[in-house]
Amino acid sequence: MEFLNGFEHASIEKAVKILKDGDVVAFPTETVYGLGADALNSYAVAKIFEIKKRPKFDPLIVHIGDREWISAIADYVPPEAKKLIDKFWPGPLTLILKKKDAIPGIVTAGLPTVAIRMPSHPVALNLIRSFGNPIAAPSANPFGYISPTNAQHVAKMLGDDVSLILDGGSSNYGIESTIVSFNEDKIYLHRHGAISYEELSATAGPVNEKEKNSSCEAPGELPYHYAPTKPLKIIHTIDEIDDARSSFLAFKKPLKTPISKYIKVLSNSGGMREAAANFFSYLIELDQDDVNIIYAENIPETGLGKAMMERLKKASKKYMHITH
Ligand code: TXA
Ligand code: MG
Repeated sequence: MEFLNGFEHASIEKAVKILKDGDVVAFPTETVYGLGADALNSYAVAKIFEIKKRPKFDPLIVHIGDREWISAIADYVPPEAKKLIDKFWPGPLTLILKKKDAIPGIVTAGLPTVAIRMPSHPVALNLIRSFGNPIAAPSANPFGYISPTNAQHVAKMLGDDVSLILDGGSSNYGIESTIVSFNEDKIYLHRHGAISYEELSATAGPVNEKEKNSSCEAPGELPYHYAPTKPLKIIHTIDEIDDARSSFLAFKKPLKTPISKYIKVLSNSGGMREAAANFFSYLIELDQDDVNIIYAENIPETGLGKAMMERLKKASKKYMHITH
């Protein structure tokens, strides 16, 4: 692990090279430190989840270098969002907007929306602009730890799991960005953070607490989990497939051809990173109108396999409720 002064040009150049090579760097923002990868490269983003060791996928925030970049990744910016952008960007406010296809499924955990913010920290802005692509980044803490607010925290928490940490001093705010979404002229607060409720409403009018989503599967469950609309069943061998009007999500290349109408192989060689990079886009692709069921091959629960299985188990539970 290397530690470089983020205010120096050579450090930014080095970080940009790492990002271009599809790897991960830790960088400062004004809220907390982030663990960043090229937001348009699903394989690079899979590495973030590997390092975070989180047993599930969470949607990530996409960090942009200029407000003009929004149009490449989000479909529509409502007037309320424009007001908030004028007032708070660059800064600790994250907007949830409808996503464009350029953003891979692993960034949003399969959701049709993407969280976007333009940070104000000079090192973050310099990094993003020099790189030229949006950077997907969660807070740079492993699962179970609080968010790091200086480079030493990151080094202690991630050690050799990350090859470069850009040091930009202590984060000014020390808490995460405020997250809002929009629906029919209304603004919803998803996460309290560095910008207060009062500041938001002074700029854009009334702000609602996050909607209690009716598609929520169970009490206490976060509503943003993507689940296929078709029933899903986890299987251990392809002999368990007894419906040809089905999709099959294979982990590795199958030894014989399954009878399923649609087949996707997450990784021919069974590589976890490659599998995770393909996971959400394949799952969405296999969720076809003309199938009765999606079969998913059991994935070994090591590394990223745990997070993929978490999602598959959740989807298959929904199926059990329907059929039993
Ligand atoms: O200040 C921050 O926001 C820091 C710095 C690095 O930018 N980032 C951060 O990321 O806190 P993270 O991954 O620790 O938290 C982002 C949260 C996710 O846990 C999720 O709840 C929410 O943002 N999120 C992201 N995309 C979403 C979406 N499409 N819909 C709903 N929630 C979303
Ligand atoms: Mg976090």
